[in-house]
Amino acid sequence: MLNYSGHLVKIKISPVTMELPMSVDKQKMQAAEEASKLIHDGMTVGLGTGSTVAHLLAILQGKLRELRNVRWVATSEDTARKCAEMGISTDSDLETPLDLDIDGADEADLEGNLIKGGGGALLREKIVARNSRNVIIIVDSGKLKKDGIGDFGIPVAISPHLMTLTLRNLEELGGKCTLRGNGNYRTDDGNAIADCHFGKVKHPELLEARIKLIPGVVEVGIFHNLCDMLIVGVDSGTEKYQFKRRGPSFLK
Ligand code: A5P
Repeated sequence: MLNYSGHLVKIKISPVTMELPMSVDKQKMQAAEEASKLIHDGMTVGLGTGSTVAHLLAILQGKLRELRNVRWVATSEDTARKCAEMGISTDSDLETPLDLDIDGADEADLEGNLIKGGGGALLREKIVARNSRNVIIIVDSGKLKKDGIGDFGIPVAISPHLMTLTLRNLEELGGKCTLRGNGNYRTDDGNAIADCHFGKVKHPELLEARIKLIPGVVEVGIFHNLCDMLIVGVDSGTEKYQFKRRGPSFLK
């Protein structure tokens, strides 16, 4: 059975011992722990947003003395606030690319395509990922979609100006879209979010580009070519998937 902290425990039903699945939270924690080993003193590190990254922040709290010279960049006001509570200051601008970015995702496939934006932070998350030499994505096993991303829907950050018409433009691409919070939700940058369902996304790069061309769209929650390593928390530990990302030359 699962104990109060969600740890896997064995229950003995005589004469067999059964293993029940570890909690999703525990899987997230294991992925975060594995990723935290990649942070070294002197690096510039992006910190993602969400409950999986919250585990990472808790782990980092215990390592701050050995990571004294790390420069941190938060991908959301929420993460920046959590960092401030831990006594770490974050930068909102840099002169050079980041060494590492560690973030969660809502879905990931075996080619490193991601859906992000469930927490509304997709714009800053994509800016940080695009400008990081190494992007590590940490997820629980339920988010790995071996048959392709799309079930979660695609969050799209849009300008609130004429947002209902932008929603119509999105639907012209074949999606079923709703405005988050009935149109009242706002991101850290003051944008609204359209949650769009296109079914399984066969060509993530293409759909990302087509959505991005709509004038009212600020950013799309499809992340293509923005993941170097996916760390999946599973009951027995973690599984790692590495991808060959084509980085812009200034990252070299
Ligand atoms: C934030 O906007 C998202 O992109 C998050 O990275 C994503 O929703 C993952 O969040 P959880 O770790 O809470 O599932």
